[in-house]
Amino acid sequence: MTRSARVFAPAKINLALHVTGQREDGYHLLDSLVAFAGIGDLLTVDLSGPSGLEVTGPRAEGVPTDARNLILQTLTAIWPGVEARITLDKHLPAMAGIGGGSADAAALYRAMAALTDAPPKPSQADLAKLLGIGADIPACIASAPTRMRGIGEDLTPLQDIPPLPILLVNPGVTIPTPAVFAALETKQNPPLDSLPTGELLLDWLKTQCNDLEAPAILRQPIIEQTLTEIFETQGCQLARMSGSGATCFGLYASEGEAQAAANTLSETHPDWWIAPTRLDGQAKAAPQLIRAT
Ligand code: C5P
Repeated sequence: MTRSARVFAPAKINLALHVTGQREDGYHLLDSLVAFAGIGDLLTVDLSGPSGLEVTGPRAEGVPTDARNLILQTLTAIWPGVEARITLDKHLPAMAGIGGGSADAAALYRAMAALTDAPPKPSQADLAKLLGIGADIPACIASAPTRMRGIGEDLTPLQDIPPLPILLVNPGVTIPTPAVFAALETKQNPPLDSLPTGELLLDWLKTQCNDLEAPAILRQPIIEQTLTEIFETQGCQLARMSGSGATCFGLYASEGEAQAAANTLSETHPDWWIAPTRLDGQAKAAPQLIRAT
């Protein structure tokens, strides 16, 4: 029997995000176009035990390895009592608007579903649990271009997103998500305009926005500077913040331009996290099952 699995947990990018209302419990209703990047964390789950979570990799510092970690919360909520030895190779900055804990928790779900022959899509009961742990977890389980509505439970897969060269830039500040939502001036903005097909995506994206950008900039003005500097790089078509920040992204026509922009910004800001990569138009690879030897 296969006892371990390795799963890629890609960065989640909100290409556009509109806040369309607020529920009675305080959660905000969103309408967001979400896609996934070629950079991410790598999660390995081994059911041979002993139980535990080890975090390694360039962005491991400060990542909790106890019950605060969304990976362990997900394991306990969906597979109570199951022993799993988990290794997280952390490449993405945490609390950064690109999935972070939710992406890792989703990877745990995908790995465990593959190892236990559970359905790759969570049941309604599991979905409710996952949303309570992290609102982005269901979208991250899909790991494919998706229109996300509600607080993250209403997911419409999108078929024809072209692969887009992208530059991710985090200026090294964090803002708690609730603080960004709290600073939002208008909580009832229009939904996304109807989505275009294929090659028209970039033009359409320019007409949409991230409603959380302004409140995030109020808390961390460096985000505005980051967006300006990205937009000023050669070939940048669009600069925007992802999620509740502080990671921003630039979209480019070619990978060469995204790489050149990364080089320019890295020279000026050696302390920023700068990652040229691409957005994939398709779902990420299924969990890799590792046969016991
Ligand atoms: O996305 P996550 O579940 O980590 O969100 C953290 C907090 O951000 C929530 O507890 C809530 O206060 C706020 N939030 C919100 N509306 C959403 C998502 C998050 O108000 N759609």
